[in-house]
Amino acid sequence: MKGFDPQLPQVWTNPYPHYDLYRGEDPVHWTQEAERGDAGVWYVFRYRDVIAARKNSAFSRRYRHSRLSKRPLPDYMQPYSEMLGNWMVEMDAPDHTRLRGFVSKAFTARRVGGLRTKLHEFAHDLLVAAERRGRLDVVHDYAYPIALTTIADLLGAPREDGHLFKSWSMDFAALENQKPTVYLYQKASEAMLSFSEYLRRIRRDAEPGSSAGLVGALLTAEEQGCRITEDEFVGTCMLLLFAGHETTANLIGNSVQTLLLHPDQFALLLEEPSLVGSAVEEVLRFESPVQTVSIGHAIEETEVGGRTIGVGQKAIAAFGSANRDPEAFKHPHRFDITRSSVHHTAFGTGLHSCLGNALARLEAQVALSVLLERMPSIRLCDNKSCWKEGLMLRGLSTLPVEWAS
Ligand code: HEM
Repeated sequence: MKGFDPQLPQVWTNPYPHYDLYRGEDPVHWTQEAERGDAGVWYVFRYRDVIAARKNSAFSRRYRHSRLSKRPLPDYMQPYSEMLGNWMVEMDAPDHTRLRGFVSKAFTARRVGGLRTKLHEFAHDLLVAAERRGRLDVVHDYAYPIALTTIADLLGAPREDGHLFKSWSMDFAALENQKPTVYLYQKASEAMLSFSEYLRRIRRDAEPGSSAGLVGALLTAEEQGCRITEDEFVGTCMLLLFAGHETTANLIGNSVQTLLLHPDQFALLLEEPSLVGSAVEEVLRFESPVQTVSIGHAIEETEVGGRTIGVGQKAIAAFGSANRDPEAFKHPHRFDITRSSVHHTAFGTGLHSCLGNALARLEAQVALSVLLERMPSIRLCDNKSCWKEGLMLRGLSTLPVEWAS
């Protein structure tokens, strides 16, 4: 079969027919489409194989750093790769376990739940401003400000710094989502260096117990004897911004567009607002904001779905495909907000599953509820929305809407 190529516009604009094809014909698929120094990669398209592979300890996240360190990297890739090495997504046990445990302590349900009222008020204010302007682009004027402000509040950083977070996060997302070029590496590295300096300054200036946010909680945990280096502290805060900003903004945009494209489901939600939780779960399954994620590199020969993965080869889980697998979901291409037991993989599975899932769910639920309450007559402006380039992070670059005033 022809190699699966996530860079092709026909793939990232509508990946689902492509997933169906590969899931049916070659569910664990080798493609030579080189990425990030690898000679090729395995794509895993079936739900059951994704679940099994993510549990398989033959795969390592650390491998790419250990191997890259043996092969000198071009200068433009160095800072990026070094900083990524301090992110828990790029670690294996025991470092991953230590760091994840540390962040989980600070990322409590109470801290997340405590953001609800502020979130509600902020979403409301954004819509009041849009009504005054008479214009609303759900992506730019609603989803991004909500996601960004929430991350700033969560970290305990000033909201006025949101524009800095946005530009750093976009430079990082562009590299992760598009075909890597020297220019994209340089932009992402510069963004990471600037953000790293910003975080080191916050850390240096923070008085014990002075910051109410996650940064403060991380510092307190550190004072209480948790082992975390300054680089890991910086890497963790950076990961929280990059993992939690673009993804959540995409979830909000995808939710609004998908509901508006399915008027029966939109009407049902208007009639029964308590369905907002299951509506968000169905969007997570139907238009997963993270479509593909690395499983890791095989550190010993292993098997996935009957195919042999050789030592050093990389595998990628196609969550977007797993979430449309007819073996796992009845009528997978049907958008149904009353679907029960939505065991989707949108937040990943296994040891590296999403630490911010409760926060992302809260943000999307509040954003949808406030929007529907305030603008029940909302509709899409004809053919004006479009998908952002790249497959990994699925989201809209713009989503203008209209409403009856
Ligand atoms: C709709 C929004 C979100 C989606 C779809 C999402 C999805 C994911 C996925 C698929 C992973 C697994 C990555 C991997 O295996 O490499 C992940 C990991 C992670 N996410 Fe999220 N995420 C979202 C929001 C957030 C938020 C709001 C935060 C925090 C502020 C966050 C923090 C993290 C962290 C720290 C990890 C790494 C966990 C680990 O390596 O153990 N995410 N997320």
